[in-house]
Amino acid sequence: MEVIIQPSPADCAAMGARIIGKLVEQKAGAVLGLATGSTPIPLYGELVRLHRDGQLDFSGVTSFNLDEYIGLPGDHPCSYRYFMQQELFKDINIKPDRTHVPDGLADDVDGHCKAYEQAILDCGGIDLQVLGLGTDGHIGFNEPGSSLGSRTRIKTLTGKTREDNARFFERIDEVPRHCITMGVATIMDCRQILLFAFGEGKAEIIAEAIEGPVSAMVPASVLQMHPDVKIFIDDAAASCLKQRDYYKEVFAGKPSWQSF
Ligand code: F6R
Repeated sequence: MEVIIQPSPADCAAMGARIIGKLVEQKAGAVLGLATGSTPIPLYGELVRLHRDGQLDFSGVTSFNLDEYIGLPGDHPCSYRYFMQQELFKDINIKPDRTHVPDGLADDVDGHCKAYEQAILDCGGIDLQVLGLGTDGHIGFNEPGSSLGSRTRIKTLTGKTREDNARFFERIDEVPRHCITMGVATIMDCRQILLFAFGEGKAEIIAEAIEGPVSAMVPASVLQMHPDVKIFIDDAAASCLKQRDYYKEVFAGKPSWQSF
């Protein structure tokens, strides 16, 4: 686990975009796992900029999103399909049929979740997964108590997550109670993971996830067991880390061949 502390979300986004850019350049048909929410917006902005500058071609890329609200159609402004369209897909040359977001209106939710897992396998697995972090420790919408061996499935959102996400809706009672999310084990199967977390509001939970015990009660803590995870945080989100100075020292002393 590599903890990278930067002054601002923009610095983190620039580094993350360079890592994604290198992968997309080097691997024809790269498979990206994508997240929604406020956190990845600067990252997607940077990817769009690189694409517009002619530096990034997404025509061979396949994407899988982590999650979607149950009950929202893809053209609903609060759906994650809509978010992806607005924040990234409409501004890059990814082929629409290669973008996958769970279907919030699936009749057979269970069958849809199994097919989603199968589609990931059929594409050869996810090369790089982008993650945000919930204030309750969730990754995807794997809420506290989620099985660390879970796969794509229906989950019930916690009150905390619904409160946190109410800012995207007109009223809290409009926030759906259920979602479809990739499981913790689905995320752990991804070959490389970049987690981003910004701001003071994420400081306590980021410390639990990185320096606390591995526990289903903090699903992000399982990333401690993944061999290739980079955690990009700004100074505010790093404020509760015991080893903060050490992580900074490690990053400052990185050999040039490891830089990005
Ligand atoms: C969204 C997702 C969630 C968010 C998390 C943080 O696809 O999977 O885990 O990353 O809820 O949300 P923000 O970035 O809005 O703080």
